[in-house]
Amino acid sequence: MQILHYNDDGNLYLENIDLTELCRTVSTPFYIYSETEIRNNCKRILHHGELFSLLPCYALKANYNPKIIHIIQTLGFGADVVSDGELQFALRSGISPQKIVFAGVGKSASEIEAAIREEIHSLNIESESELRAIAKISKKLKKNVVVAIRINPDIDAKTHPYISTGLHENKFGVDPATALRMFREASNHQYLKPEGIHIHLGSQIQSPAPYLESIRFILDFREKLLHENIKIKFVDLGGGIGIHYENQLDTRNTSRTFIDDILPQLLAPFRDTDLYLIIELGRAIVGSAGLLITKVLYKKETPQRNFAIIDAAMNNLIRPSLYQAYHQIVPLKDSGAETEVMDIVGPVCETGDYFARQREMPLINEGDYLAVTGAGAYGQVLSSNYNLRPRIAEYLVRDGNITTIFNGESIQTIMQQYL
Ligand SMILES: Cc1ncc(COP(=O)(O)O)c(C=O)c1O
Repeated sequence: MQILHYNDDGNLYLENIDLTELCRTVSTPFYIYSETEIRNNCKRILHHGELFSLLPCYALKANYNPKIIHIIQTLGFGADVVSDGELQFALRSGISPQKIVFAGVGKSASEIEAAIREEIHSLNIESESELRAIAKISKKLKKNVVVAIRINPDIDAKTHPYISTGLHENKFGVDPATALRMFREASNHQYLKPEGIHIHLGSQIQSPAPYLESIRFILDFREKLLHENIKIKFVDLGGGIGIHYENQLDTRNTSRTFIDDILPQLLAPFRDTDLYLIIELGRAIVGSAGLLITKVLYKKETPQRNFAIIDAAMNNLIRPSLYQAYHQIVPLKDSGAETEVMDIVGPVCETGDYFARQREMPLINEGDYLAVTGAGAYGQVLSSNYNLRPRIAEYLVRDGNITTIFNGESIQTIMQQYL
């Protein structure tokens, strides 16, 4: 099935849904997701994992809408969570505790306790202090805890510095010497079971090279541990597989994600080991499934620039403002061959509130609708009420129909929370 395509009538469709038609009945801006695309991405991951002992986990941070988590859960995925909130959402969406891994550089005592009480698969430890905190709480609860130590391998993932995490200058994980000390300490503890090595290099990674470098490192490190009689059972390879932000339409015959380019190479080095593997993918599962639909409010021409001012803003999708990220933006109605160069900006009072700068776009008019593609990951979850703009509705295309999966806020619902 075609996911995102122009039909013969020149209208943009998500699966079988004519998005222009939809805009007649629901107000913009809004997010809309394709269940088929989410399923297809998950199935691709499962297909590559078939020959391995693999626990694929969904990184909830990419999009924690419970209906979306539920779709992924039904395909057998576990969850990667980084807060008590994400843990509760994963459980509520039907993910078994035994398939949940808890990562994050600053888990609070109550989060650690909740994770241990729920008997989740494992906690990823990011510092010596955190090791001691987990040790203390496991002793208090008299419960065994499987842990993985997150090692920072000092490898450049060649992605945006804000989403690069595997360099020594980053706050994540510990250096190899510290990790070795932590493995020794944990293996001598009554309740800690140091069974895994965890790495996560960053996000929106577009080549297997940094992963392969880190895998060489992990396999060497595992040997070092074996010399000390510490036998690990699993490797958590983190997440980070990217998507093709510049090409999300079906018309060009290429993939929307880097799953097929990276995942097989990532798993292959483990073929002859007795280790089982965990991956924690977010963006590669939901990123290509979501669109942000917005309306052009005004056009404005200045001697220097042409602007299209749209009704979505950085509070709805902050990626361009925060990471200078590129999103392909397309009109819901194909207007033909003529193009113009413009800045596409939101109404928020910040110069940084933009979606595209000096972008060649098909000719668009006031009142036209646009789709910001590749918006399914790190979109709605990073939204805010800045400029007192309510968070917007989310819809899902499921079996050819539209379901509302988040109502959107109103000024009243926001106001009620103030005393
Ligand atoms: C520890 C960890 N695992 C998994 C992910 C998911 O990354 P992605 O959405 O790029 O797959 C992240 C994202 O930053 C992360 O920090």
